[in-house]
Amino acid sequence: MPEHAVLFTLRLPDAEERRAARDYRLMINSGDRPLTADEIVSRSQEVDAVVCSVVDKMTAAVFSRLPARVRIVASFGVGTDHLDLAAAKARGVVVTNTPEVLTDATAEVALLLLLGAARRAYEGQEILRSGRWTGWAPTQLMGHQLTGKRLGIVGLGRIGQAVARRARGFGVEIHYSDQRRLPPEKEEGALFHPTVEELLPLSQLLSLHAPSTPETKHLLDARRLALLPRGAIVVNSARGDLVDDEALIAALRSGQVGAAGLDVFQGEPAINPGYRSLPNTFLLPHMGSATIETREAMGFRALDNVDAVLSGRPATDRVA
Ligand code: 8YV
Repeated sequence: MPEHAVLFTLRLPDAEERRAARDYRLMINSGDRPLTADEIVSRSQEVDAVVCSVVDKMTAAVFSRLPARVRIVASFGVGTDHLDLAAAKARGVVVTNTPEVLTDATAEVALLLLLGAARRAYEGQEILRSGRWTGWAPTQLMGHQLTGKRLGIVGLGRIGQAVARRARGFGVEIHYSDQRRLPPEKEEGALFHPTVEELLPLSQLLSLHAPSTPETKHLLDARRLALLPRGAIVVNSARGDLVDDEALIAALRSGQVGAAGLDVFQGEPAINPGYRSLPNTFLLPHMGSATIETREAMGFRALDNVDAVLSGRPATDRVA
């Protein structure tokens, strides 16, 4: 009988479940419905580690009610905005995330959003699937080509850099803003702008790659959207909170923003219904890291962190 017990707040890919069941007494919330705060607390009573994800709101109240035997909360994902890290620290529980392993998958989705929005993929799908396609025509569904455009990246971290590398392959010129200028080997030729305000006017394409923090909430608001060149393409594969939805929807209606590609939404899954009614949106349900390879790597990384802490070693990906 394994010494330690682990709770998975949601079902993870089979390979992770097999590994966890081999090494630990495993408790799983076997559906895809997230647990409530009370359920997380009650199911944590008999475990030493909790593996949670972005849908679990690990608030100060939840951390304060975790039993003392829980030594690590390993989050399956890179973002930490659902975790009250200060409360975790105060309670003395280690918190980890899974950086690096989802960079490529998320960058691929950012490119999918750029292409989907710029090339009117939603409208194309809609016409075909609804049986309304009357045949090829010279002026039908003309979108915008990425080639030769300027892409503004807000946040040239790991994922932003991976997006830049891929976008260069499409003949796109890369500009970015970040808290500070990066060394040349990370810039790879991208042009730095000290403020978002300076980046926006030249961003025919814009991709957001900043974390969700109180400072970045509604980073893209009406005032900043007005700074974009008219008809710009805006994509977000980071966090919904970065965008003021009402302002973006108004800009999509007026043509100030030509099209938007969105994988993340404020208040998801209850997304602002305005997005659904617009033809110039290309929408995905938070699929950035959803590849078999990446989800397995994320789960293994979370379990590596659990193994470390429960065997008295430091966790590689400690965030609190
Ligand atoms: C994950 C993400 O799928 O890692 C993140 O921060 O947004 C996603 O790509 C999700 O967080 C899983 O917990």
